[in-house]
This record gives sequence, C-alpha cells and structure tokens, in this order.
Amino acid sequence: EAASKGGFDCFMAKEIHEQPEGIKNTLERRLDESGKIVLDSIKMKKEDLEKINKIYIVACGTAYHAGLLGKKALEAFLNVPVITDIASEFRYNDNFVDENSLVILVSQSGETADTLAVLRDSKAKGARILAVTNVVGSSIAREADDVFYTWAGPEIAVASTKAYTTQIVSLYMIALNFALEKGSIKEDYYMYMIEKMKTLPEGVQSILDNQDKIKEIAQKIVDKEHAFFLGRGIDYALAMEGSLKLKEVSYIHAEAFAAGELKHGTIALIEEGTPVISIATQEKLFEKMVSNMQEVTARGAYVVAIAQEHNKGVEKVADDVIYIPNSDDMLSPVMAVVPMQLLSYYVSTLRGLDVDKPRNLAKSVTVE
Ligand code: G6P
Repeated sequence: EAASKGGFDCFMAKEIHEQPEGIKNTLERRLDESGKIVLDSIKMKKEDLEKINKIYIVACGTAYHAGLLGKKALEAFLNVPVITDIASEFRYNDNFVDENSLVILVSQSGETADTLAVLRDSKAKGARILAVTNVVGSSIAREADDVFYTWAGPEIAVASTKAYTTQIVSLYMIALNFALEKGSIKEDYYMYMIEKMKTLPEGVQSILDNQDKIKEIAQKIVDKEHAFFLGRGIDYALAMEGSLKLKEVSYIHAEAFAAGELKHGTIALIEEGTPVISIATQEKLFEKMVSNMQEVTARGAYVVAIAQEHNKGVEKVADDVIYIPNSDDMLSPVMAVVPMQLLSYYVSTLRGLDVDKPRNLAKSVTVE
C-alpha cells in the first residue's frame, strides 16, 4: 500500500499533489491543432443548444461545490441563468425540468444515489443529460446522453481534491465551447481563457512547492473547536469547499459564510482567536472583503487571508496571508482551493486522525 501512495503518507496528500497533472490531462489532451477544445463525446450541436432554455447543474458534496463554479462560468460565457442544486433537494422540489432543459450532473464516482435519481427523473421528463464524471463506465456515465470525463485519475481518499479541480476545469471548458458555438463569446476571448487555463498546472505546482506557511497556520488552528470561511461571489462557493474539507478530515466545526451576511448573525460567533479563513481573490469584491476582514479582526478573530499575489494590501488586515499566483479572477478557485486542501490535511495529521478514512464517511454514497 505504501508504494501505491507514491511516497506520501496518505492518499489525500498524494492526490492533492497530483492536481497539476490531472488538470493538464483534462485540458491539454483535449486541445486540437488549432488550440481549441474538443469536447469528446458531447454530441450537442448548435441547434441543440438553441433549444435549451433552462440549465441545471445538480450534484452532491464536493461535486456540488464545483457545480456552483460551473454556474458562474456558464452564466458569464453563455449569458443565461443557471440553477445549481443539491441532488437530494432537487429531486423532491418542483424543478420545472422539461424537454427544453439541459441537466448537467457532476459526480466523481458516477454512482451517487441521489444524483443518479435526478438523472433518471430528468431523463423521463425529456431533458438532455450531460454527465461530468471521473469513472469511465459508471452508472451516471452510461445513462447520460453526453459524457465528459474528468481525467483526474483514480481518487481513493474520501475527501475529494483532484476530482474537484478537474471538475471546475471541465465545466469551464464545456461553458467555453458552448458559448463559442452559440456565438455569445468572441474567439479572442475563448483563446485567451484557454491560454490562461494552460497556466493553472504551473500555478498549482507553485503552491505545492511552498507549503511552510500553510503548515504554520495548521499549527495555529489545530486545537480550535470552530473555524469560519468567508468569501463573496466565486470565493463564497470556494469557502464552502474549504469548510467542507476541514470538517471532513479534522472534525473541527467549520462553516462557510457569504461575507456580506456577517452582520446578519455570524459575527456574533466571533471570539478572541476564532480562525476566519477569508478568501479574497476577486478584484471587484476585494475592497469589500478587506472591510469584512477588518470587522472580524476588530472582534479578535485570527484572520488568514487567501489572495492573489498582487494584492499585498491584504497584509494590513490579516494575521497571515497565503498568496496564490495572479490569474484571471474566474480561474482563481482552481488555485485558491489548494492551500485549503493542504491546511485540512495538515490539521488532520497533527490531530493524529485517519486522513483518508474519516469517521462515518464513505467515498461514494450509493444509498439515499
Ligand atoms: C461523498 C464523498 C464526497 C463526494 C460526494 C459526492 O460524500 O465523500 O467526497 O464529493 O460523495 O460524490 P460523487 O462521487 O457523486 O462526486
């Protein structure tokens, strides 16, 4: 087993380090000679896209968090509203799925019971089903109309890491191609985004090569009972994934909040030394996040900021800062999640827990 962990002490660490390769495989192996993305077995044509008047992204757990980012990309590029929902909620809601709907299901395993149930219900209502999954030949892959595989390689650790980053990249690739096909983005912008995405493996690698700061922060939060994750927009979706990672593997009570909601309740929970991981990677929301950091600092919080390298101003309001390489704002989650994955791994290890098999959790939830 040690050999299969490739020299790492657990699969989660190994899989975190496999992300540059997974992202590269998912993206670059799909580029044709002209540098454009080939969407494999997605058979949707322009006329199919034109028929679609509702897009849903449905998933569970980490895949749901990737879906929240897929929504941002589809809305930005295609200029249409997208609903992202949790499969166990969506299936019992009035969801208005019909023959003009596109239902995108995101699932690492392709076997999650609630996600599969949504696939079957939506198919019965005549919707077009697109699966984004990591496991070739899984139930969701087999039953969908179109399949896009994340080429993350097998994921063993219960806490999902490389599946998440490759799911984001996949959803962005799909959104870009659909938008180009539909004419809602220009070719220049399409090519610019692909060029930017090509730099992601390198960006992630540079975070992996500089883990000292993250280890230090792990030491500072290892004995805490609670931790909060704050963000706005794209960074709020990311905060949800950061908090899920930490709670799954460290058992620290972790919660994500939309930073603008602080004043509506959450701030009452901040005490001396409460860790608040504040994600501030979005240019247009940066100043707002800085004020939120000030608000929690004033109440004694221990603030850890995650920001793009050029935003050094964040040092004035945070106790510790983890920088990620500068990038297009839309792409920053693929890098900004990595320090949070590493932080969760270090805290779990420092607590002496079984990183790969957290109590009460399963890799794939095949019962409802
Ligand atoms: C379980 C796993 C998570 C995963 C979720 C959805 O809760 O522990 O890591 O995100 O199921 O799984 P799926 O295979 O559908 O992505």
